[in-house]
Amino acid sequence: MKDAIRAVQEALERHDYIAEPAIATAVYLARELRKPLLVEGDAGVGKTEIGKVLARMLDTELIRLQCYQGLDVNTALYEWNYQRQILHLRIVERDGRDPAEVEAAIFGRDYLLERPLLRAITRREGPPVLLVDEVDRADDGFEAFLLELLSDFQVTIPELGPIRAAHIPYVVLTSNRSREIGDALRRRCLYLYIEHPSLEKEVHIIKRRVPGVSQRLADQVARFVQALRARRLSKVPGVAETLDWGQALVRLHRDHLDLEAVQATLGCLLKDRDDLSALAATETAALVAAAQGTETAAL
Ligand SMILES: Nc1ncnc2c1ncn2[C@@H]1O[C@H](COP(=O)(O)OP(=O)(O)OP(=O)(O)O)[C@@H](O)[C@H]1O
Ligand SMILES: [Mg+2]
Repeated sequence: MKDAIRAVQEALERHDYIAEPAIATAVYLARELRKPLLVEGDAGVGKTEIGKVLARMLDTELIRLQCYQGLDVNTALYEWNYQRQILHLRIVERDGRDPAEVEAAIFGRDYLLERPLLRAITRREGPPVLLVDEVDRADDGFEAFLLELLSDFQVTIPELGPIRAAHIPYVVLTSNRSREIGDALRRRCLYLYIEHPSLEKEVHIIKRRVPGVSQRLADQVARFVQALRARRLSKVPGVAETLDWGQALVRLHRDHLDLEAVQATLGCLLKDRDDLSALAATETAALVAAAQGTETAAL
């Protein structure tokens, strides 16, 4: 068991995702049990990337459904290609063909536009990864529909009848908890909560994801961000911000933090005006000095 988890952890890392055993275990179980994985956590902690890295790891297609308020079944599942249907009607109109025959033709598979959910269950080449991103943004009605789909992996299109999954897809759902996900959906899923990374993990991520970064800069950037997260902020920087900042500093040819460069680039980390103005220059200087302290051992 431990070996299997370690193997997943190493495979994730080979595909540029740094995971502690808890994350690797969740990914391993989602893959082995073929259960949807619901991932929650603050902004930028690596939720969406779990779906992406799983597809890379399994060498399969990633099918992403981005959720938003008002997302409806048509956009998520299928639509009829009205333009092609009308074109077909115009062409056959002159021939005086049997209307029933014409109707059957224009409501056939050729006229169906597959949207992400339908594509995920009809993919013939093997199971894809279906990433249902930010499911908390969709409304309750859509969640109920999703629950049904994730139970049966079958949908019914009135004109065509039921369509069963060719292969059960691997499913990753993410949520920022802007709305509580219902118990029924939770029960259907394995659950993973991702915290902001530890110092060691963040250094590791920076080294993996920021080309040309020195060990020293990676250590100092991670320490600075960790100290910043401990403050009261309205928008806590996630890994995404850390990576942006690291890249910016490398572009500015820095191999360690200095106050001038930090002040010039703070907008990569803090994306809120109040947070920026609340950080007085003296505090920034103290954070830089603390980050320049003893460096962590190379990972
Ligand atoms: N553990 C990790 N290893 C490597 N890269 C990571 C890790 N965690 C996050 N990242 C990187 O950080 C960035 C943000 O990650 P991601 O988009 O997955 O965050 P998220 O949790 O989905 O954020 P949001 O809630 O804003 O959608 C991506 O570039 C991702 O590759
Ligand atoms: Mg995301």
